[in-house]
Amino acid sequence: MASTAGEVAGRLLAGSVKRSYDPVVDMDWDAPLDPDKLFLPPEVVTLYATPLWEAMSASTRRELSRQELANVLSAGIWFENLLNRLLLRELMKTDPTSHWSHYTLTEMGDECRHMMMFGKLIDRIGARPFWPRGAGRLAVMALPLVLRGSMVWVAALVGEEIFDALQRRTLDDPQLQPLVSRAMRIHVTEEARHIGFARDLLARRVGDMSRLERAYTRACVAVAAPIFRNLLVNWHMYERAGLDGRAAKRAALASPHSRRTLGAGAAGLASFLRAQGLMGPIGEQVWRRTGFLS
Ligand SMILES: [Fe+2]
Ligand SMILES: [Fe+2]
Repeated sequence: MASTAGEVAGRLLAGSVKRSYDPVVDMDWDAPLDPDKLFLPPEVVTLYATPLWEAMSASTRRELSRQELANVLSAGIWFENLLNRLLLRELMKTDPTSHWSHYTLTEMGDECRHMMMFGKLIDRIGARPFWPRGAGRLAVMALPLVLRGSMVWVAALVGEEIFDALQRRTLDDPQLQPLVSRAMRIHVTEEARHIGFARDLLARRVGDMSRLERAYTRACVAVAAPIFRNLLVNWHMYERAGLDGRAAKRAALASPHSRRTLGAGAAGLASFLRAQGLMGPIGEQVWRRTGFLS
């Protein structure tokens, strides 16, 4: 017989007891950085395999990887901040004695420690965060107003699953700084449970969705791709690495390698959304245009 949401949450709680990390003590923050290693594996740097990359010195490549890591960690912090605000709201609708509530609180605790880990890592690699200003900040603040019901779980999956797939493929890269690799390993371990939780909840809701909710969810799936893509090619990070920011962004967006990497990262999520009927024809089109589907 299929498990209930409470049983799934109970298993995730048991997994959390067995394997959770406190990055403040589980990471060796005093270990020296390797002067020859990159801060992201080369194949996930957005300009990898472009003519711009080929023309770059080893030190510019390293600096670009540092800025790209700071950008991705910054986006991770905003996203986890948003997710925790959404989860806190969900908790007001559920029984505080249930496994479901307790796992939600556990996930929020994981995200608090991840935000701390990402912030410490940005500082440790000698970078500055990329923080939203003006309209960008307003959008991040306003998102909980538009993300309702099943959208909470779609937002969780889009934010978590694509990064997770990319991290998994690259954390053992020998060219990567060991400190970054350790942070990725901690993150993928805890995110695997979050993804399981979000997928389970979304799959349960699909059957009860009204036509309107399904249409709204599909629209949100479609717009998530360009937002996500845009965050990854933030032109400020290229400027901080000493490049022409606008030209570098154009090169990254046009890069076939970058599209293939993104497509590989999004493949698992795309097939899950398709199987749940949440990838509509517009979503397919937008995801394909953005490089999320090949
Ligand atoms: Fe996280
Ligand atoms: Fe998470």
